[in-house]
Amino acid sequence: MENLSKNIIITGANRGIGFELTKQFSAAGYHVLATARKPLQAVKLIELADNDDNNISIFKLDVTSKLSVDNFGKTIADIPIEILINNAGILDTYESSIDEINLVDFAEVLTTNTISPIRVMRAAMPGLRLGNTKKVVNLSSFMGSFKGQSNGAHAYRTSKAALNRAMQIFGRELADEGFIVMNLHPGWVKTEMGTEAADIDVVTSVTGLLKIIETTKLEDVNQILGYDGTNLSY
Ligand SMILES: NC(=O)c1ccc[n+]([C@@H]2O[C@H](COP(=O)([O-])OP(=O)(O)OC[C@H]3O[C@@H](n4cnc5c(N)ncnc54)[C@H](OP(=O)(O)O)[C@@H]3O)[C@@H](O)[C@H]2O)c1
Repeated sequence: MENLSKNIIITGANRGIGFELTKQFSAAGYHVLATARKPLQAVKLIELADNDDNNISIFKLDVTSKLSVDNFGKTIADIPIEILINNAGILDTYESSIDEINLVDFAEVLTTNTISPIRVMRAAMPGLRLGNTKKVVNLSSFMGSFKGQSNGAHAYRTSKAALNRAMQIFGRELADEGFIVMNLHPGWVKTEMGTEAADIDVVTSVTGLLKIIETTKLEDVNQILGYDGTNLSY
């Protein structure tokens, strides 16, 4: 594995956008370190890895578990990583007022969507420092925008706004080392999270994301970009 030059980590690779990212990056010649919290149940991913000339290796990773992230970090510590994609995420309920909101669930969303990408990034830092590209990509959302006028999904919106801010600051601090940290909005995508009512399919979203991920340069990173290149900076 160490001899393959373009290693990319994708979290939440067993379904949705993460699965399609795995498919398209492996087809583009990358070796994908595809992570799933329940790899034995990741039937589609296993099937893809089996049919893909060993361009995909599957790792167990629950991004909210310190132990799981530490173990993953140790396993990959000596491998040069070109790109980390923090894709795993959860959405809370849309329907909750100040009187009803469940703050335990709120904290779980913040842990998964904000704290965990930071933890995974830290675990991947040794490998990213060995790589040439040094890109960290976060699947953010326009729902985190302060400009957005919609209500509900308080925890999700808050978690993505905080993710954008934290990653923007880490990105600035790591720029001198050549790191490129990006926050990308994939569009409203037909997945379990996005539902069938969404605007676009995963292929359209990921085709756009892949292009942006491969072409973004350091000078472009202080923006939140849509899958189609639209600047959604808040
Ligand atoms: N779909 C959209 O319209 C949309 C729009 C804007 C942003 N996004 C963002 O894009 C990313 C992917 O969304 P999606 O639509 O593909 O969602 P999805 O279909 O619900 O898939 C979510 C993925 O995250 C994984 N995951 C959740 N919690 C995890 C944990 N603790 N550890 C490891 N993996 C975990 C899930 O694994 P399990 O199968 O084990 O649950 C699954 O692989 C998310 O960050 C989301 O916020 C999506």
